[in-house]
Amino acid sequence: MHELIVRGGFPLKGTVKVKGSKNAALPIIAASLLTDEPVFIEDVPDLLDVRDMLAVIGSLGASVKYSHTDEIITVHSLKLDSVEPPGYLVQRMRASFLVLGPLLARLGKASISLPGGCAIGSRPVDLHLKGLAAMGAEFSVSGGFIEGKTAGRLRGAHIYLDYPSVGATENIMMAATLAQGTTVIENAASEPEIVDLAGFLNSCGARVSGAGTNSIRIDGVLDLGGTRYAVIPDRIEAGTLLICSAVTGGDITVTNLVPEHLNPLVAKLRETGVNVEEVDYSAIRVTGNSQTKAVDLKTLPYPGFPTDLQPQFSVLLALSKGTSMVTETVFENRFRHVDGLLCMNADIQVEGSHAVIRGRQNLSGAPVLASDLRAAAALLCAALAAEGITVIGEIDHLWRGYSCFEERLTALGAKLQRVKISKSEHSDQAQA
Ligand code: EPZ
Repeated sequence: MHELIVRGGFPLKGTVKVKGSKNAALPIIAASLLTDEPVFIEDVPDLLDVRDMLAVIGSLGASVKYSHTDEIITVHSLKLDSVEPPGYLVQRMRASFLVLGPLLARLGKASISLPGGCAIGSRPVDLHLKGLAAMGAEFSVSGGFIEGKTAGRLRGAHIYLDYPSVGATENIMMAATLAQGTTVIENAASEPEIVDLAGFLNSCGARVSGAGTNSIRIDGVLDLGGTRYAVIPDRIEAGTLLICSAVTGGDITVTNLVPEHLNPLVAKLRETGVNVEEVDYSAIRVTGNSQTKAVDLKTLPYPGFPTDLQPQFSVLLALSKGTSMVTETVFENRFRHVDGLLCMNADIQVEGSHAVIRGRQNLSGAPVLASDLRAAAALLCAALAAEGITVIGEIDHLWRGYSCFEERLTALGAKLQRVKISKSEHSDQAQA
């Protein structure tokens, strides 16, 4: 494990380019199992989650090559010789569950460990299973594994999702591309990453329409071909960088983004008084405001405010004048960053799915511990804004979703130092 030592209080200034989207790349890598022809996926950043997903499909028999320099992944699932990814990978990364739909569609069976309820809630998979069962898949659960099988080809179905689950929409959409007949997903997730997955599938010869709305239609085809496809820019990384500018009173221009994907964040930033300027069709500039004001925030499925930016935005609210109410409606346990912020002199009270945040003039550096990916991002935002030194333990969580982030922040004026913690030191700290 590693620690990150941050000397805060320096306004971040300059221009930074957003990398490809983690949450678009992961389902697209899973979807590459659907074809026996080679696929080339471009603009995929080197992330721990990407490496895990490549290990998952590699364990099933796909041949995988990743060129770090030009960020291109080559996948060739010519012959798949397993239907059971290693349990530890599925436990470690929930997105591994996205191979279920492709395996059922391609091979008619799958055996997948129940994904670990990670740090931000129980995160069941009932909607995935219900949708796939409507298409003819049969499931049994034994020993923490979900065994799925289909008698012959999956059949198209009319599926209504009780909740617009991103993962369930993706699993069902992928499976439906090779099903017999038409599938319609009602109350589907409409995130940009869903649209990107549909774009990838259609570039392989699938027939998906309506992605980006709450009703997606998929007309099954017999097989899919290869493709070359570039994933969309990462709206959560872009939003995190914009928030870094706001909390440090900086002046950052973030390029290579899709402005409309950031509409909810831009609206809330402007509401606090932060200056936001759309520089052109693919860049946004944020200049911090010395005294932002408190606003209420509620996370919702897209196009609502994204839950993945709630922890980071809460740091801005902790520094804004007045009292804010943050309501987290997507996950039942997404305030794990608050413990660290309290150590840094924030005034936050969590009651169930609500956090009441009373703004302070400033935060103070302190030793804190990251618990998950976006909590690590929030603690980093807070450390950059705080007076003095912050030591963020287990900063490794950050690398699941942010590539070369420390280097890019340093280029904007951040004062960071990464330190490797030996196993014994780490276990001492854990016991402390
Ligand atoms: C995706 O997770 C993202 N991950 C998450 O980003 C993101 O926070 C989430 O969508 C919401 O936008 C990837 O794309 C890899 P969901 P996913 O299924 O698919 C409940 C990050 O930080 N639910 O939309 O797991 C579930 O418990 C990560 O990059 C069921 O009840 O999200 C949760 O409360 C974190 N039953 C809610 O729906 C199901 O079968 C949203 O889950 C499925 C989900």
